Amino acid sequence: MTSQGTLEGKVALVTGGSRGIGAATALRLAREGADVALTYVSAQDAAEDVVRAVEALGRRAVALRADAADAQEADGAVERTAKALGGLDVLVNNAGVGVLGPVETLSVADVDRVLAVNVRGVYLTCRAAAVRMGPGGRIVTIGTCMTQRVPGPGGTLYAMSKAALTGLTKALARELGPRGITANLVHPGPIDTDMNPADGPYAAGQAAMTALGRFGTADEVASTVAHLAGAAYVTGAEFAVDGGHAA
Ligand SMILES: NC(=O)c1ccc[n+]([C@@H]2O[C@H](COP(=O)([O-])OP(=O)(O)OC[C@H]3O[C@@H](n4cnc5c(N)ncnc54)[C@H](OP(=O)(O)O)[C@@H]3O)[C@@H](O)[C@H]2O)c1
Repeated sequence: MTSQGTLEGKVALVTGGSRGIGAATALRLAREGADVALTYVSAQDAAEDVVRAVEALGRRAVALRADAADAQEADGAVERTAKALGGLDVLVNNAGVGVLGPVETLSVADVDRVLAVNVRGVYLTCRAAAVRMGPGGRIVTIGTCMTQRVPGPGGTLYAMSKAALTGLTKALARELGPRGITANLVHPGPIDTDMNPADGPYAAGQAAMTALGRFGTADEVASTVAHLAGAAYVTGAEFAVDGGHAA
């Protein structure tokens, strides 16, 4: 089966594409016509499943082990993508980790780990993309609804790390706009993934915080990411895909 869509002939890199929102995004971009590189850190089998699913859509795909917490690996994913697939047109910064808990209990190691993955890794991958991308390049980053509204205790470190992505996205939009490259930020609400299962112990409370009264799906986030990957006149913007969590 071949795909036809707005991303025909483009090359995309999705960080953390082995599971959850990243895997759904990799498949959605492939359905729109893109070839896709995806990174993972531990779930090699799951990453290879996504590669096979992309290939079944008639697109090329490659899974790259690249730990976003490692500066060299975060930086190197872009060039590895370009080498494997011939360039880079779309970067989706999706890989992220959450360490939740009372502020008094979070260790220096927790802070370093979360900032390394959620902030420094994103910065370094964007930096490499800025070198590699030409006009028409698209950067889409995954934030969280918790930067817009924190519904309860325990989110200090995670919300702080994701809030940095607003500054990064707006500044990148200004810096790369003259080259025809856009940068946008998507804030998911509670989404049913391994990170935040819809049958988990805190799920009912999270669903109740949304206007729609339910968790979202990874596909519902992926469709907004794919739209932004094809949109030429949207940049420096933030999009809530949160079922009304911020309403
Ligand atoms: N689910 C939600 O409710 C929700 C809400 C708001 C925002 N988000 C954000 O959405 C993004 C995706 O979340 P998700 O729910 O899909 O999570 P998930 O199901 O836990 O999947 C996380 C993905 O990121 C990868 N990853 C984790 N640490 C990594 C690292 N150090 N280097 C490279 N890849 C790494 C994982 O790779 P492996 O498979 O190899 O472990 C996996 O592919 C995250 O940025 C998260 O903060 C999620």
